[in-house]
Amino acid sequence: MRQILITGGAGYIGSHTAVSLVNAGFEPVIVDNFSNSDQSVLSGLKRILGQDLLCYEGDCNDRALMEKIFQENNFEGVIHFAAYKAVGESTKFPLKYYNNNLNSLIILLETMSSFGVKDLVFSSSCTVYGQPDELPVKESTPRKEAESPYGNTKKICEDMLRDYIKSGVNSRIISLRYFNPVGAHPSGEIGELPLGVPNNLVPFITQTAAGIREKLTVFGNDYNTPDGSCVRDYIHVMDLANAHVKALEYLFKQGENFYDLFNVGTGNGNTVLEVIQTFEKVSGSSLNYHIGPRRPGDIEKVWANTDKINNVLGWQAIYSLEDSLRDSWNWQQKLGEKG
Ligand code: NAD
Ligand code: WQD
Repeated sequence: MRQILITGGAGYIGSHTAVSLVNAGFEPVIVDNFSNSDQSVLSGLKRILGQDLLCYEGDCNDRALMEKIFQENNFEGVIHFAAYKAVGESTKFPLKYYNNNLNSLIILLETMSSFGVKDLVFSSSCTVYGQPDELPVKESTPRKEAESPYGNTKKICEDMLRDYIKSGVNSRIISLRYFNPVGAHPSGEIGELPLGVPNNLVPFITQTAAGIREKLTVFGNDYNTPDGSCVRDYIHVMDLANAHVKALEYLFKQGENFYDLFNVGTGNGNTVLEVIQTFEKVSGSSLNYHIGPRRPGDIEKVWANTDKINNVLGWQAIYSLEDSLRDSWNWQQKLGEKG
C-alpha cells in the first residue's frame, strides 16, 4: 500500500483528508497528540471507511517518536497538518505557537530527509495575505505583515520550506493556502470539533441553532462590502481534502528541488449575512443573531483566485455554500444525538 503520514490527522482537515486518501488508494497513517481533537474521530473514520487506520498518539516535536514512526512504516509522502491554529490565543501565548508550529516542521523535514521521504504537502493559510490590495487574491499577490503570531508561523514556515528547497535538497514540497474551511463529511460521522466556545463563524452558527449558544454576534455591518458584513471564501472541507490528494499526485511527477504554493478556495466571496441566510434556508429555521461591533484584527474581504490550482493541479471546488452548511448542520445534529 502507498502509505502517507498525516500529522494532525485526527483534526478537522486531517481527518477528512484521511477519507480522501483512502478513496484515492492510499493508506493514511496518523500521528496526533489529541491536543485539539478527540479519539472519537477514529471511530467516525472507521464507520466511514469500514477499516481502522493506524494512529500513533504522540507529539510531532518528539524526534524519537517521529523516527520510530518512519522506521515502522514506508511512507511515500507526508501531509503536515499538526499545528496550533487559534489566532486569539496566539497573541496571548506566542511562544507556544512558535514552538509547536515551527519546531514540528523542522523535526519533520529532518526526519523525512534521514529516511529518504521526499514529498510533503504543508497546511498554509490565506491569513498570509492579510487584507490584500487586489481581489480575488492570487498566489503572486504580496503577503502582508502577519496580523498574529499564528499567521506569522505560517509565513515563516512557507519561507522555511522555500529556503530548504533552494538549498538543493532532494525534496518536493507544496504549500496549500487554505481559505475558510467549513462543512463536514456528508455522512455526518466526522466534522469540526471546536473545544469550548468556537472562534469561527460556522461552528458558532450551528451551535446557536442547536441551542448550545444563545445568539450569534455578527462582527460589524459597516464594512465596504455589499451588505456591510465581512466577505470570505468558504470552502467545503471535502473539497479541501481532495486538493491534498491532487497536490500529492502532482508532487510525485515533479523533478528534484521542487517548491510551489496554491490557493485552495472556491473563488467566490460570501458575506457573513449571506452565510446566515443560507444556513437558515438549508436548516429551515431562523437563527438568533444580532449585529455587534467589529472584531479587532478582522480582514474586511478576501477571496481566492483559483486559476492556478484549477489549471495546474486540475482541482476545483465542487460543493456549494448550501452543501457546506447542510453538512455542518447535519454533523452538529448528529453530535447532539450522541450527547
Ligand atoms: P485542528 O486543530 O482540528 O487539527 C490539528 C491537529 O493537530 C489536531 O488534531 C491536534 O491535536 C494536532 N496537533 C497539534 N499539534 C500537534 C503536535 N505537536 N503533535 C501532534 N499533533 C498535534 O486544525 P485544522 O483546522 O484541521 O487545521 C489543520 C492545519 O490547517 C493547521 O496547520 C492549521 O493551521 C491549518 N489551517 C487551518 C484553517 C482552518 O480554518 N481550520 C485555515 C487555514 C489553515
Ligand atoms: C469568518 C467571518 C468574522 C464569528 C480565521 C483565521 C484564519 C484562518 C481561518 C487558519 C469573519 C465573522 C465570526 C462570529 C462573526 N485560519 N464572524 N461572528 O476570521 O476569516 O479566519 O479562520 O489559518 O487565519 O483568522 O474566520 O470563521 O473566525 O470568521 O461575525 O461569532 O465571520 O468577523 O468576517 P476568519 P472566522
